[in-house]
Amino acid sequence: MEEERKLLILYGSQTGYAEDVARRISRQAWRRHFTAHVQALDEVDKKLVFTSSPVIFICSTTGQGEEPDNMKRFWRFLLRKSLPHDALSAMEFAVFGLGDSSYQKFNFPAKRLFRRLQQLGAHALVRRGDGDDQHYLGVDGQLDPWLEELWDVMLSKWPLPRPAVPDDVVPDPTFDVSFGGTQDPGVVVDDKCRATLVVSERITAADHFQDVRHLRFAIEEQDPLPAWGPGDCAVLRPCNLAADVNEFLATVGWTDRADEPLCIEPRSTGATLAWPVPSATLRWLCTNYFDIMGVPRRSFFEMLSYFAPSVEERDKLREFSSAAGQDDLLAYCMRPRRTVLEVLGDFPRTAPVIPLSYAFDVFPVIAERSFSISSAECPRAVDLTVAIVEYKTLMQRVRRGVCTRWLAQMPVGQTVAMRFARGTMRLPPAATPIVMVGPGTGIAAFMSFVQSRPGADNYLFFGCRSESKDFYYKEQLRQWAAEGSLHLFCAFSRDGPAKVYVQDRIREQARLLWSLVAEQGAVIFVSGNANRMPDDVRQAFADVVSMNNPQMSADDAQNYIARMVKDGRYQEECWY
Ligand code: 2AM
Repeated sequence: MEEERKLLILYGSQTGYAEDVARRISRQAWRRHFTAHVQALDEVDKKLVFTSSPVIFICSTTGQGEEPDNMKRFWRFLLRKSLPHDALSAMEFAVFGLGDSSYQKFNFPAKRLFRRLQQLGAHALVRRGDGDDQHYLGVDGQLDPWLEELWDVMLSKWPLPRPAVPDDVVPDPTFDVSFGGTQDPGVVVDDKCRATLVVSERITAADHFQDVRHLRFAIEEQDPLPAWGPGDCAVLRPCNLAADVNEFLATVGWTDRADEPLCIEPRSTGATLAWPVPSATLRWLCTNYFDIMGVPRRSFFEMLSYFAPSVEERDKLREFSSAAGQDDLLAYCMRPRRTVLEVLGDFPRTAPVIPLSYAFDVFPVIAERSFSISSAECPRAVDLTVAIVEYKTLMQRVRRGVCTRWLAQMPVGQTVAMRFARGTMRLPPAATPIVMVGPGTGIAAFMSFVQSRPGADNYLFFGCRSESKDFYYKEQLRQWAAEGSLHLFCAFSRDGPAKVYVQDRIREQARLLWSLVAEQGAVIFVSGNANRMPDDVRQAFADVVSMNNPQMSADDAQNYIARMVKDGRYQEECWY
């Protein structure tokens, strides 16, 4: 009898990308006659990890170079001093990280994990793979060549016992899905609370190009009340709108049975839903679980290709899922931000024949979104400042972000599930001055900072286009300034003949800022839309250092800021 070739694939995933990569690798492993077991790092039995080999780790990066939530516990365990130095000496492993090289701590979780596994005696099969979002093909740009290396090594160590399974054969589905069952309610997520929308107010002028909302949620009484502090985030999972769900159900041919109860059974141990589903019908799943309005990843095209009944559709789908077809996929899907629903419309013969049992393998899952809380610490109410994402694509169609669209149309009185997550910015003691730089919605967390430090030395550099159009919280900020709780500096980029940005105001205040930073130990916070702002602001602070220290070289000034970053005295929380 053939010896069983086992492979453990573990992921730490925040948005689901690392998990998607893990599952793609497990399908490749299956073709090569490995029995792969895929699980989140925090869910896997530790004993299994310590007795398994080979093990492939796929882990993404969150915040400022931190481990994703579903590997934090495992990572803490792995760091224990009590683990013997040869605890993993029987393990052969590979690590692939997902990150973004525009961040300073690029792929730090993967780097730390790789080093720690080696410290514990484990042997690397291949070099660490560093997936980079900045690659024009995204993380896949580095993943494809890395996987080739990995399989070369794996197959030389564990040669194929018989020919590989051909590319067009699909592995078994992860779940058995059938009609008529009653669904086990599963584990109730206990870190979620019920939040009811009580205020949804546009805070930009009606004729301003962007709709920015001030939202307030009332938190339902519960014991204990959720705990959060200044700089923390509210985490929400959006739903799809009814019209989109109906269109999707019709496209895949599920309309007639959309409201029948479903039974979803894992086919193997370790197969879990991305999050617990309390009671499921197809309509419920398409509303709350499947990300039908998101931009699909490459594996979506791979999974569709298995079911394509026509040669043309199958060839196109296989090309999109191959390494060679990634430029075409980028041009067809990622750049114009085509949605799952639209892609299905382009493959009209395949869409209606996707087997129900494969739904969980084919369709991506709605991810949670974090928003900085913009109100004072108060367990019963949470304010958010949300820019409704809307943009024209290359196809000149208006797009809206899945989550902000859901929030924008949400009627007052609607109740949603909310949980809280720690932000990355850490406030110093009240006696230490803080300098906050928050153009646009970057101001959100700073609204909570100021309220939590009344009367303290708070400096805010806020930037927007126009004093009369998008100066959010104008009255409140001016009132705080009048009361002495805030020193306010504003940059209106489109009110005068020339653009003025927060970094210009920072340079104007060079002397004041230097005395705050050098003499009073101030901590600087930068928050807002990434792109060029964080680098421009950092350069402005380096200029502040130079202006006050003519003897310093430009490099010295940059190093001064770099040291502040290292010491936690210059903190950035930026997003795309
Ligand atoms: P603009 O749109 O007029 O260019 C909030 O979005 C504010 O940030 C706007 O006033 C915007 O100006 C400004 N902004 C755009 N790019 C910036 C950058 N690189 N640095 C600082 N502020 C910027």
